[in-house]
Amino acid sequence: MHQAALTVDPAFRVGEVDPRLYGSFVEHLGRCVYTGIYEPGHPAADEHGFRRDVADLVRRLGVPVLRYPGGNFVSGYNWEDGVGPREARPRRLDLAWRSIETNEIGVDEFVQWSRRVGSEPMMAVNLGTRGVDAARSLLEYTNHPSGTYWSDLRRKHGSPEPYDIKLWCLGNEMDGPWQTGFTTAREYGRLAAQTAQAMRRVDPSIELVACGSSGSGMPTFGTWEATVLEETYDLVDYISVHSYYQEHDGDRDSFLASAVDMDQFVESVVATCDHVRAVGKHKKRINLSFDEWNVWYQSRFVGEENLDWAEAPRLIEDTYSVVDAVVVGDLLISLLRHADRVKIACLAQLVNVIAPIRSEPGGPAWVQPTYHPFALTSRYGRGTVLRVEPTGPLHDTARYGEVPTVTATAVRDDETGAVTLFAVNRDQRESLALDVDLRACRDLVAGEHVVLTDPDPEATNSAEAPERVAPSRVGDLRVEDGRIGAVLPPLSWNMLRLTTN
Ligand code: AHR
Repeated sequence: MHQAALTVDPAFRVGEVDPRLYGSFVEHLGRCVYTGIYEPGHPAADEHGFRRDVADLVRRLGVPVLRYPGGNFVSGYNWEDGVGPREARPRRLDLAWRSIETNEIGVDEFVQWSRRVGSEPMMAVNLGTRGVDAARSLLEYTNHPSGTYWSDLRRKHGSPEPYDIKLWCLGNEMDGPWQTGFTTAREYGRLAAQTAQAMRRVDPSIELVACGSSGSGMPTFGTWEATVLEETYDLVDYISVHSYYQEHDGDRDSFLASAVDMDQFVESVVATCDHVRAVGKHKKRINLSFDEWNVWYQSRFVGEENLDWAEAPRLIEDTYSVVDAVVVGDLLISLLRHADRVKIACLAQLVNVIAPIRSEPGGPAWVQPTYHPFALTSRYGRGTVLRVEPTGPLHDTARYGEVPTVTATAVRDDETGAVTLFAVNRDQRESLALDVDLRACRDLVAGEHVVLTDPDPEATNSAEAPERVAPSRVGDLRVEDGRIGAVLPPLSWNMLRLTTN
């Protein structure tokens, strides 16, 4: 058995967890909206046509913020199509996903639904086929109280109070050639600056996210961020980061170390932000909005055959396994370890489309294995992140070289003093005995050890077996002489929850 050790000390603070680190993403893509969150006529539909069974799972997942309406979709979207009487809303070609958009759901319905499930909307504006004018009119529609054309239109549509949406994305993945209206960093930076300036005049209280690179593999990665920030630094609050991971050619060891890539990606974008800050002598810091991340088997692009102008086609409905859940748990550890600079993150996406929640039209809704580490981290990973540096074995990976076999982070509940450790054993065969030194946290007495693992790493959940993969409580933890010990099974995600008297 491998051995590893770590020390938890409240003095080693990384930073406060911004609850928006546990966001997710709803795009008009495939069946995320239609027959995902919304399905009038379904036996579980509420009076607005939204599925209660899906909404319950969203509430239990714990997603304080939901990015909307895209994604690639937003770069060809006319937000005005989705407001007003439904019978008058146009059907449009969605160029991003080669689908038909019926516009049955738009900004009013989405904002109201997101608040019913306990989330705040994070809106993206179209800087692909539209621009400054559409962005400022949408903001006037959502946030201006009354007495103007757009705000009075919102009132006429049944919402007398402004929605007061705080978080706004200035376009989406504008460096990507797949994007309608993709462009250069300089052109995008100027457009983003003009849009930001106009939007801040409408509502100075908003927070703005400029588009970073679509991934660390993009040819302009690094220079893109630097150029965009040169144009926008004082007008925006965050730069976006997007990354998806998958197993390549059976190289599971590298896949299990995906969080190493996330660490490097975050650290490199932070370095660029701070470089631009120093060169431009700017006062404030730009933080990161990791507003798309997940496991996504892009090489198995399920649904390509459905890309034929269909309504709500089955697209990228990845089925996730135990391995994927362990990787998702590890990626969350990486986000927490960077909580001082990553303030917003969105698991992409929420329902059906590369999502922790699945649903069948007219049928059941269930959760994928990836749902569990996310829900538990969102629930217990609130407070202050403490820096922990596990000592322990390293192992070799083809993609990242030598990587730590165990990764971990600790979060201290600021009110109760309870500490939750999240840890992953990346070794596929051997268990790992973890020794935790808690002598600096005198009040901690006992706790529980919850594990997500399975003898079959390929195990999945399905409509027929919705609970085949779930976390289990493997034992009690007792603090003795200021220490606890726990055994992390091979290929496992672990939560060690320690409470005070
Ligand atoms: O989440 C799926 C897609 O991935 C989004 O539409 C796009 O922004 C990204 O490339």
